[in-house]
Amino acid sequence: MGARIVGWGHTKFGRLEDNLEQLIVKAAKEAIDHADVNPAEIDGIWMGHYNGGLVSDGFPSSLALQIDPQLRFTPSTRLENACASGSAAIHGARNAINSGNAKIALIIGVEKMTEKDTKGVTESLMTASYQAEESAVSFPQVFGRFADSYFQKYGNKSNILAKIAAKNHTNSVNNPLAQMQKDIGFDFCNTVSEKNPMVAPPLRLTDCSLVSDGAAAIVMVSEELEGNFERGVKFRSAVQVNDFLPMSKREILKFEGPRKAFHDAYNEASIKVDDIDFAEVHDCFTIAELLVYEAMGITKLGQGERAVLDGTVYSDGSLPVNLSGGLKAKGHPVGATGVSMHALVSAQLTGSAGLMQKENANIGCIFNMGGSGVANYCSILEASK
Ligand code: COA
Repeated sequence: MGARIVGWGHTKFGRLEDNLEQLIVKAAKEAIDHADVNPAEIDGIWMGHYNGGLVSDGFPSSLALQIDPQLRFTPSTRLENACASGSAAIHGARNAINSGNAKIALIIGVEKMTEKDTKGVTESLMTASYQAEESAVSFPQVFGRFADSYFQKYGNKSNILAKIAAKNHTNSVNNPLAQMQKDIGFDFCNTVSEKNPMVAPPLRLTDCSLVSDGAAAIVMVSEELEGNFERGVKFRSAVQVNDFLPMSKREILKFEGPRKAFHDAYNEASIKVDDIDFAEVHDCFTIAELLVYEAMGITKLGQGERAVLDGTVYSDGSLPVNLSGGLKAKGHPVGATGVSMHALVSAQLTGSAGLMQKENANIGCIFNMGGSGVANYCSILEASK
């Protein structure tokens, strides 16, 4: 028995007029239409949403029933796992389908961030850190620490981080759903300026992901129903690994939680990193994408720059990373991100990714992370029909 992704919807990411409810309804209606499923047949709704004070809607699960009156009385639950809330919802639905408790699931990932100013957003996101030790450290500062420790150990890699930012912005030009569909160039990213200030040394503004509104949704069904649908994407594997919350209990540069998530996902799928055709990974900050290259085994520890310098992770390389523009340029409405990754990878695998489409996209890898390597979700997907 295995769950199948049979349809998806995705709002544009950005600074949007829509409120939380409108975002939920838009993305989910699109997914229901795309799958061509009758809402009355949906067995359950799983909603990935972080919130953390970003909006006043503290109990949004039943907002999903606004999508269609036929959803009244359908069980709906919000799942929260920081920036991996979207993947938490995907995994929750998949577990229900795999255990036989549901046959058709609707998954929604959503976040409305821009009701707050940058200071307010930063404070809300900070509630996802270990409060006993890190309550005064913002997320840019958390990843600034990662970058600072990395530079101390392996040398200053600011130019590599700028190349990662520039790569993802270049990719975003092909993604009409991206918040910044704009090629801003390596020189801009690599130069500290009035337009690109130092935000959390050594990280500059262009090393950070965006503050975004947006939603994505997926319809998932059990394997025996797949024949009723036009398209199907299966999970070769799906793994969740949580690590200790306090940074002080982890050797941060080893990125052990993400590393184990990749390792276990490859084992479960019986693949090696070389078998992956493309990946969407959690570049909340450019240093995170560099560390992910090492955690996923493209390079050894401390050598992540090689994946950039030899072209591996570029759109024409052997393992393109973040063809969508990533969190860096597509945007990062935190609760939506994991669902967005699964939707866009499914689009690639079914040959429907438009200008983003990669040739021979047979095996796609997703890595979505909550906190600084704390809640780690890795999925390996493949088209099943
Ligand atoms: N990358 C590239 N450009 C960005 C950007 C980013 N991350 N953030 C903002 N910009 C651009 C804006 O488009 C705007 O451009 P314009 O002047 O041409 O219109 C300009 O920079 C100023 O935007 P503004 O929103 O005023 O920036 P800000 O200083 O308030 O916020 C950050 C910038 C980096 C602090 C903010 O984007 C941020 O906090 N990002 C991280 C979010 C986060 O922590 N997410 C969770 C990860 S775990």
